[in-house]
Amino acid sequence: MEDKIKNIENEMLKEVESAKNRDGLEQVRIKYLGRKGLISEILSSLGGMSVEEKRKVGPLANSLKINATAVFQEKARRLEKEKTKEEGIDFTLPGARPEIGRIHPLIKTINEINEIFIGLGFRIVESPEIETEFYNFKALNIPLDHPSRDVFDTFYLDSPEKTRPGSRRLLRSHTSTAQIRIMEKEKPPLQVLSSGRVFRPDAVDASHSFMFHQMEGFMINKNIRFSDLKGVLTQFSREMFGPETKMRFRPHFFPFTEPSVEIDISCIICGGKGCRVCGNKGWLEILGAGMINPKVYETVGYDPKAWSGFAFGMGIERITMLKYGIDDIRLFFENDLRFLRQF
Ligand code: DAH
Repeated sequence: MEDKIKNIENEMLKEVESAKNRDGLEQVRIKYLGRKGLISEILSSLGGMSVEEKRKVGPLANSLKINATAVFQEKARRLEKEKTKEEGIDFTLPGARPEIGRIHPLIKTINEINEIFIGLGFRIVESPEIETEFYNFKALNIPLDHPSRDVFDTFYLDSPEKTRPGSRRLLRSHTSTAQIRIMEKEKPPLQVLSSGRVFRPDAVDASHSFMFHQMEGFMINKNIRFSDLKGVLTQFSREMFGPETKMRFRPHFFPFTEPSVEIDISCIICGGKGCRVCGNKGWLEILGAGMINPKVYETVGYDPKAWSGFAFGMGIERITMLKYGIDDIRLFFENDLRFLRQF
């Protein structure tokens, strides 16, 4: 009897091992563990045995049953695993950890500037990236045939032969277009801020990119004066770059403002003493600004005698580079996570 049990066990192990699938395994299980199976047969034959025999065979038969159950379970588990592997799914693999995104440094700068100007009563708007010559140039008092247009070198989407002069579509070369878009739709008083991508066909190097970001702001009301421009931008530069920051206004020319200025802040790296970043000048140029040219009001149908206002524009990349000490503009656009993870 003991030999018989041993043989049954060996035979069973072989058959379990060679089972190819769940159905095959089930056949083997029924053969051994089924109600009329070989193991059940031995167990029920215990009844007709002598006490002595029972004592020897009983435990062997019982442990055979227990082992057999475990062997079948284990094989079933292995078959299931192979099946999912064949189907390309392995549930035992560790899960993919979701990557946590973060805010791009340029967007961070835009958000920060927005917050400051919202505190000063400004409203944030969007303006199209695809524009026409009218919005990008003419309405901003940049004549179509004027050399000042070269400053805003532009990507055109239409060829000049096929389009009426002045109506060619283009990728905006500055965000000053937002001034016209809003003035055309709304009446003063206005306090508006708009930022986004601008495009210029520049060769790419450490300080140039064919696409970069600008922020445009303007304020129009009754009796807005140059001192208001100064006050608002001084408040901005102190909040953005620290309370010690000084400002310097230099006369400049922009067609859409009169008078126009370029604005420098005291170098945020050396505090004005002179260093590599400010080229030993102690000052950093960060803004163009001025009082909105009456010609712009005429174009949008405002009475230049009734309203006055100022406008300003700044480069987001430049401010972000100064703020974090970044020395190559291309880093913003290469999507290198080693760079982006630092912000
Ligand atoms: N649009 C100018 C540029 O792209 C920047 C600028 C200068 C905007 C003076 C203004 C301004 O609103 O008043 O270089």
